[in-house]
Amino acid sequence: MDERGTRNRDARSPFRHSPSGFRNDLDAEGVTAGALSENVLSVPERPHGRHAEATAVARSTTMQRDMDYDEEYTRTAELFGPSPERTLVRFWHLLERGRPVLDVGCGQGRNALYLARKGIRVDALDPSRVAVRSVEETARREDLPVRTVCGRFLDLGAEPASFDGVLVLGLVPDLPRPLVDELLPLVHAWSAPAGLLWLTVFTTADPCYENHATHWTPVGRNSFQSPQGQVRTYLEPMELRSLFSAFEVVHYWEGLGPQHRHGGGPVERHAMAEAVFRKPE
Ligand SMILES: C[S@@+](CC[C@H](N)C(=O)[O-])C[C@H]1O[C@@H](n2cnc3c(N)ncnc32)[C@H](O)[C@@H]1O
Repeated sequence: MDERGTRNRDARSPFRHSPSGFRNDLDAEGVTAGALSENVLSVPERPHGRHAEATAVARSTTMQRDMDYDEEYTRTAELFGPSPERTLVRFWHLLERGRPVLDVGCGQGRNALYLARKGIRVDALDPSRVAVRSVEETARREDLPVRTVCGRFLDLGAEPASFDGVLVLGLVPDLPRPLVDELLPLVHAWSAPAGLLWLTVFTTADPCYENHATHWTPVGRNSFQSPQGQVRTYLEPMELRSLFSAFEVVHYWEGLGPQHRHGGGPVERHAMAEAVFRKPE
């Protein structure tokens, strides 16, 4: 049992240890100019909240140009809103409590912190130092069981079956399609048997799809990059479902998501698929 009285089937760290940490790894080929600077936050080397030490591993092998999330997150405190993803609110209670949940691309932590406030251990990973620092500060202030990792998913040397839940919320649209194709098998592998996956993606029915397909540079199937380096990747209708066909469907929905704005940006509305899948036992 852990200190919150929940069953702890496997208290070992899911991370393989590396003395180098993420910062140097990210300074290698996987990172864009300006994405990191030496004197800001590095990989945390001590526990945060009630959770264990954050560690990191190897270098990225796939190029990714980032949108400058550090700048966006510095400007806007809750860039993706104050509320957690609706599917998380609806289905978090189905989580097993032995292993932590991994939030891949956690951003400013609206989902990770929501789960942690429910007493669920969360490993929150993001390459944005500003994002990770703000998640860390909240976790420390509220003594929440959150372990932060500043890095990209390819740098996370997690062991297979390490997590009772994996969140991939809002990340897929930002990744070039070749990276999505690297991410999804890892998500499969990281999930424990009966583990839950939360995913949101944009679909090709999105109002912006035609514009991006016409004016941006293709970087993979239904995947485009603006001259400034911003990426948008779309999945076909029902593609998300078929990518996880071996998994049980807890929830699946496709349609037009709610109208919203990011900080002072324009009003947006996306064609989305949202899913909660359960890995077979
Ligand atoms: C659209 S935001 C979503 C943030 C958060 N999941 C939410 O729903 O509020 C995408 C996040 O993914 C992060 N990201 C981008 N590339 C990544 C990568 N290769 N590995 C992990 N996270 C990444 C970005 O820094 C950004 O914070």
